[in-house]
Amino acid sequence: MRREFELSLGDDLAHMVEYGYPPATGPSRRLPVDVYTSPERHRRELAAFAARPAAAVHASEIPDPGDFVTAQLGATPVIVTRNRDGTINALVNVCAHRGATVEHRPSGSQRVLSCDFHGWSYDLDGSLRSVTDERLFATERCERGLRRLACEERHGIVWVTVDPPDSSSPSAVPMTVREWLGDELDDVFGWLELDAMTMHATKDIDVACNWKMLTDGFLELYHLKFLHRNSIAPYFPSNLIVTILYGDHLATVLPKNRLIRHIAEQQRDEWQILEHLAMPFVLMPGTVVQWQAGHVELFSFRPHPSDPTRTLCRLSLLVPPHQASDTALCDRNWERVGDTIPGEDFVVAEQVQANIDSRAFTELQIGHSERFLLEHLAAVDRLVAATTPEATRDDDAVVIEPPALRTAAEI
Ligand code: FES
Ligand SMILES: [Fe+2]
Repeated sequence: MRREFELSLGDDLAHMVEYGYPPATGPSRRLPVDVYTSPERHRRELAAFAARPAAAVHASEIPDPGDFVTAQLGATPVIVTRNRDGTINALVNVCAHRGATVEHRPSGSQRVLSCDFHGWSYDLDGSLRSVTDERLFATERCERGLRRLACEERHGIVWVTVDPPDSSSPSAVPMTVREWLGDELDDVFGWLELDAMTMHATKDIDVACNWKMLTDGFLELYHLKFLHRNSIAPYFPSNLIVTILYGDHLATVLPKNRLIRHIAEQQRDEWQILEHLAMPFVLMPGTVVQWQAGHVELFSFRPHPSDPTRTLCRLSLLVPPHQASDTALCDRNWERVGDTIPGEDFVVAEQVQANIDSRAFTELQIGHSERFLLEHLAAVDRLVAATTPEATRDDDAVVIEPPALRTAAEI
């Protein structure tokens, strides 16, 4: 499968190079800025986030029994723990007694989870272990543990679904990670061997903009030779991009200059395509798995629980086994991704958000080569429609019509 994917991508790129690759002309669109500011839209998008798997932690962050990581997923504080038997739990990090936060640290290791308000304790799977002076609760027995959330370890990532649709409902959608990704994309992640990777570094970045403004940066290359002129632009041809749709998820393939040379100089059966490209997979909603010539940059975008103009980005560098011991190489890759995406894309996204908030302008203009921003927005709206109960829908909320084109591979 990997080889077929590589050769087919190589064929597409060779075709584009042969026939020229300035972006094909086509319709442009206007986009009201409300999609990045509307509190009502934000509330509905949060419900959509809660209904789909979110990349909470990398499995290699909690390798041993007792290891835990805490995360804020939408409005829900979450703790992910590794059990003594190696399985994983995702729990709401709120004490069943009177609601204090149980674990305050971002990560660590514990044999039991204990609340420092009145000392109740919980097992690693969230079940209630002890109640301080239990005789004080003589008539209302305490049995409730920490609330468990749906979670699954797949492709090396622990995916947590905070509020899965009621599976007994006729309109419920499938919720395993494979069903969410779709068979084809799940297979791609399989042969990319994401599950063999380990995490080299991670950091949380508070960004003052709407989460969609951050995913937008992965969906067009129009900005490459300007915004990234002093960083990565010299390594990529301008505007040569292949976009692949996997249902509501999108992959954007960005070949490096050296790949274009490689394709021209090598026989087809010698092609090593995946070593010479960047390929962000923009998963719906809010996760970007960016394949980067052999390693992966994982972006988990976590919208603020109430403010549409704030997002927490958890950025992690995942490395394959053969790179893990090369600390200097991993450090260089970590520095480069930090300089380029938070240092350039996120900075301009904050500028745009501030200008929108100032009411300096009310409409964005989206050119033909940026049309996958609209494709992504349309997918957000489909998800919102599928996950927001009819009774709570607001007909005034801004809804994006999908663009006319749905093309598997485009210049
Ligand atoms: S709130 Fe946790 S023990 Fe009381
Ligand atoms: Fe960028």
